[in-house]
Amino acid sequence: MSTMIKHNYRGKYHFSPKEKWMNDPNGMVYFKGEYHLFYQHHPYGMTWGPMHWGHAVSKDLIVWEELDIALAPDENGMIFSGSAVVDWNNTTGFFENEPGLVAIFTHHLVQEGGDPVQTQSLAYSKDSGRTWTKYEGNPVLKHDTFVDFRDPKVFWHEQTGRWVMVIACGQSVCIYHSGDLKSWTFGSEFGADIGFHGGVWECPDLFALAVDGDSSRQKWVMLVSIGDHPAYKEGSRTQYFTGEFDGVTFMPDEDSYTVRWLDYGRDNYAGVSWSDVPAADGRRLFIGWMSNWKYANLTPTEGFRGAMTVPREIGLGSLADGSVILVQKPVHELERARVPVLELENVSREEAEEALSALQLESYEVTAVVPAGSTFAFKVRKGGRIETVVGVEASRGEVYVDRTKSGLHQFHEHFSGVHAAKLQSPGKTLDLRIFMDLSSVEVFANDGQAVITDLIYPNADSTEISLVSDEERFKLYSLSVYTLVP
Ligand code: FRU
Repeated sequence: MSTMIKHNYRGKYHFSPKEKWMNDPNGMVYFKGEYHLFYQHHPYGMTWGPMHWGHAVSKDLIVWEELDIALAPDENGMIFSGSAVVDWNNTTGFFENEPGLVAIFTHHLVQEGGDPVQTQSLAYSKDSGRTWTKYEGNPVLKHDTFVDFRDPKVFWHEQTGRWVMVIACGQSVCIYHSGDLKSWTFGSEFGADIGFHGGVWECPDLFALAVDGDSSRQKWVMLVSIGDHPAYKEGSRTQYFTGEFDGVTFMPDEDSYTVRWLDYGRDNYAGVSWSDVPAADGRRLFIGWMSNWKYANLTPTEGFRGAMTVPREIGLGSLADGSVILVQKPVHELERARVPVLELENVSREEAEEALSALQLESYEVTAVVPAGSTFAFKVRKGGRIETVVGVEASRGEVYVDRTKSGLHQFHEHFSGVHAAKLQSPGKTLDLRIFMDLSSVEVFANDGQAVITDLIYPNADSTEISLVSDEERFKLYSLSVYTLVP
């Protein structure tokens, strides 16, 4: 037996499939004490191929149990992205005594000598998602003109008492409604003349959020993922709009030129939110696919390819000028997984450096609070010539991740780079949370106002952490390091 251990880059507290390829998260729904996470999965290959829905469940959003494949291709085609809901009132007639789950997904049919055909279909489960029956009336929704007609996200719209579907259609989002999930009426089309169009529109989501946690101030948020395009080095990414929604039409706040991104790193794509999170919890929970179509098929993992971001809570915050922005925070459940390694308060740079120099870690969280206006950086997953830099540049008002020396990057010319996000509202202090795992870094600045998610592929022995700052009097109000043990 060989004693050589291969470093496979599997995250310790991020979901990745046991084997083979994964892309978009799908059908996230909370039901009977379980968070369900389905995902685009090619169970027989390390690259994208005939799509299935893989399936995992978690009770706490941290520990995931992978279950059997939920949906496999059939005569209507491969199983592309989509959503799932609890049919509480048996609007579909699929259930007798107890509510169950309904998945609404895209069938992608490849046709010889012609464009593929994308239609929308249903499947239902009476045993908490363990087994699924495809509806015999599939597909339930077709479109004559759009080749790209996919990724239905369905939710119950309380005010109109019916289901609403947002779905990517060509270069926009089409909005439909239905009483029973089986027959759908077109309502409106959003987006043709607004936002970024340098890539195909995919994976929309639409939901209401309270501004600054004040339930009397609600806004609707539309997420739209934008596919990779050779003209843009950023590859695939997700934009968002805020506005109003009356059950038929989404009216954006933005003018047509404003483009706002959910994440300023390269590796948070096709993310959508969980359905049916209990009202008593009240959170809008989100997870994204931690990769990018620019190089997703080439990343240097072994045995599996693809991971999700940490689950996040998304909210709306307002800035001093009155504008409303999306904020993202790691779910609080992650704090329960913390094992403290270092907890310092009011320390100088030298004191912090000395404490960090004693550490050797691969998978951990760093939290730091510093005076606003400081310029400094943490060097993480460092060793030999390898390092990933997570820093704040006060003169530019930015937080950034530099992965130009982060390890393997030759698999794609656009992988290497520095990715920056504007620190939106400069308070008196600046807080940073950095989540490191075996092949990723996720940075949340100022309570989730600026977010950067990036993959990295350092060596197994790149385990040092250091702190750098040219400012002589640089100090930290607090600095903590935790390992996260699910
Ligand atoms: C987004 C996407 C979806 C599609 C799926 C196919 O990453 O292109 O639009 O349904 O992936 O795997």
